[in-house]
Amino acid sequence: MMKMKILATAALCAALVMLPAAADTSLPRLGAEHGATQLLVDGKPFLMRGAELENSSASSRTFMKDVWPKLAAMHVNTVLSPAYWELIEPTEGRFDFSSIDGVIDDARAHKMHIVFLWFGSWKNSMSSYAPGWVKRNIKRFPRAEKSDSSSLEILSPLSAENLAADKNAFVALMRHLKENDGEHTVVMVQVENEIGMIPEARDHSTAAEAAFKAPVPAALTDYLSKHKDSLMPVLRAAWAAHGDKVGASWEETFGAGLATDEIFNAWVQALYTEKVAAAGKAVYLLPMYVNAALMRPGRVPGQYPSGGPLPWLFDIWHAAAPSIDMLSPDLYTPNFTEWTLRYLRPDNPYFIPEMGRRPAAEMGANALWSYAKLNAMGVSPYAPEFLPEDERKVMAEAFGVVEQLSPQILAAQGTDRIAGVNVPISYDGVSDLTAQNFAFGRYIFDVHFKAPPPISIGQNKEVPLPGAHGGFIIQTGPDEFLIAGTGMYLYLGTTGIDDPIAGIETADEGQFVNGRWVPGRRLNGDETNQGRYLFVPSGKFSIMRVKLYHYK
Ligand code: DGJ
Repeated sequence: MMKMKILATAALCAALVMLPAAADTSLPRLGAEHGATQLLVDGKPFLMRGAELENSSASSRTFMKDVWPKLAAMHVNTVLSPAYWELIEPTEGRFDFSSIDGVIDDARAHKMHIVFLWFGSWKNSMSSYAPGWVKRNIKRFPRAEKSDSSSLEILSPLSAENLAADKNAFVALMRHLKENDGEHTVVMVQVENEIGMIPEARDHSTAAEAAFKAPVPAALTDYLSKHKDSLMPVLRAAWAAHGDKVGASWEETFGAGLATDEIFNAWVQALYTEKVAAAGKAVYLLPMYVNAALMRPGRVPGQYPSGGPLPWLFDIWHAAAPSIDMLSPDLYTPNFTEWTLRYLRPDNPYFIPEMGRRPAAEMGANALWSYAKLNAMGVSPYAPEFLPEDERKVMAEAFGVVEQLSPQILAAQGTDRIAGVNVPISYDGVSDLTAQNFAFGRYIFDVHFKAPPPISIGQNKEVPLPGAHGGFIIQTGPDEFLIAGTGMYLYLGTTGIDDPIAGIETADEGQFVNGRWVPGRRLNGDETNQGRYLFVPSGKFSIMRVKLYHYK
């Protein structure tokens, strides 16, 4: 809790620094709210229950017809939709925003907000969404090259022409939004998509080779000097090991090898992204973020998109791209907790644009945890329109809980009145079911992810609890709590020696309907084992409202 508070206070400072002095406060923006950086829409904190469309869905309005009702049934309030450069600027300088306008109109009809994803120069490290006139003109729009000088289907980040073309189209998009979205349907923009370099760690084009041999730009070394004490350890160590050099080549500064190649590539791609983002923000100041492709263990730069906004490159991205408000992870592996915590930093407001390839119950539990533990302003499953219906239903239940409790979550984020609960899972899929403790004032919740021992049949070991586990606890009064999630047993205690016993006065299941609590069953019998614990059932997402007391 203490650590959370320190991070939260620092996040507040970071967010305050981030807001431009003359920002139009009616626009969607990031704001510091009691220690958390939240997304403000029309001046009010807004919690995104997101859905990122599968890449190609938004390219056809007809295809989308069946998708919107699926998203609405999932309690999605924000759709993350690609804005395809090739569709927006099919001929150089002639813009066609019909694909964008269709998404905006349909989102409005379904009372949803939008985050547009700028599929510009990079899409999963490739340049497949560049328009034909860019793709075909290799001379004017040079490609990144491998070390054997062969060309890649990736625009070189070292080309001024590439940058100018991308920037021009992005500015046109932002201008179009400014002129046509007085309703603030669009709340945020992702700049490029999963930037990085594959299959080598850096661009080897002629321009890139020259830049690699030239001195590391002063803008970077100045940043490193200024932030020496807070740099990511690997970067700090590489720079220190070579004498904290200034004005030397990349290899002289950080050493020769893949790690330095990746630092270089991060710098040139982040600079490019910054120029695109800054030009777009100058026209229409919406919050902007970049998303990161994470990797499997043991992979080296180039085997994954090298130079993306990855944890060991945070400093490079912050130095090069101050217009980017957030570095956001895309989560597709079981070790969600491990990766997300690596992005939890005071200077990185939290947004999860993509999560997928995991059971919906696990994703739902992770989503609930993220809003509480990471102060996430939004969480978004990827391509839910292609999930089997029963999986979408599970996600709908989780988002339904978030929808009901959004006012309470938003009010508690950044404070010590909220705690996220989840079960960390390793990359190999092994769950750590160790019990976890959470203190709220006088009370302690000892959360277990296994069922109590069936003593009546002579066994004294806890037994596995099927399904996913996790959710959150929100304190709503000195003795009152809302508990939401799935698959948890909560044993109660206190922090006091004078009054060590915590009892359950009432435990009610129920729902918030139009913001009003409508209780269901009173659960003071078998469900709480006659007051011994609170049980958040497995196999569904639910809300419980409890009142506790403590005594000697
Ligand atoms: C991450 C990318 O950002 C998305 O556009 C999409 O390609 C998914 N991967 C597919 O899993």
